[in-house]
Amino acid sequence: MAITKSRPGASAAAATNGKKKPSNGTVRPPDKELGTEIQRFGDVIDRPIKLDEDERSKSCDIMNGVLADTQILYALYKKHHWLMRGHTFYQLHLLLDKHAEEQQQLADDLAERIQKLGGIAVGDPRHVAELTDIPRPPDGAESVPAMLQRLLDAHELTIARVRDGIEKTDDGDDQGTNDLLVSQVLRTNETHVWYIAEHLVDTPVVDGMAAGD
Ligand SMILES: [Fe+2]
Repeated sequence: MAITKSRPGASAAAATNGKKKPSNGTVRPPDKELGTEIQRFGDVIDRPIKLDEDERSKSCDIMNGVLADTQILYALYKKHHWLMRGHTFYQLHLLLDKHAEEQQQLADDLAERIQKLGGIAVGDPRHVAELTDIPRPPDGAESVPAMLQRLLDAHELTIARVRDGIEKTDDGDDQGTNDLLVSQVLRTNETHVWYIAEHLVDTPVVDGMAAGD
């Protein structure tokens, strides 16, 4: 009986029933699985957390609105971090980046809360743009005060949604979501408003009150 030498890769071919295995070791799923949803956006799956499906669904709807605004706030902060200019450039450049990082962390916390409730968190930026209340800024640069005012306006719209969510999750006994909205989302947004608003006070760099005034 002839002895045949096994070729390199022969056992891998056997393991995939003779189909050619890609060189990187991954196996491509059937094409029909791409684009086929196993859970639709807006649907919630079961979670054994003693909270009715109806309440979990309402919380997910509210939070996806807040999540969309938060992702836009993150993007606005980054845009304005890059476009900042003037004699307070360095300070604002750093501050806006810090706020961007904090908004990004909030987005992650909100998205993961939605998943904990059995929902689907909005993720794709084109979907985010459909759900946000915050208007699109011009593609170019505005004046520094206008860019700061735009951030304040975006916060105000976000905070309106957050406060509405706080009230509704309180009524719905969803304490976990309520706590996230109060302790993290609302408080962080209020702090950001404070820091940005203080840059829109009409105060000269050098104190204009000369001695004897
Ligand atoms: Fe940067």
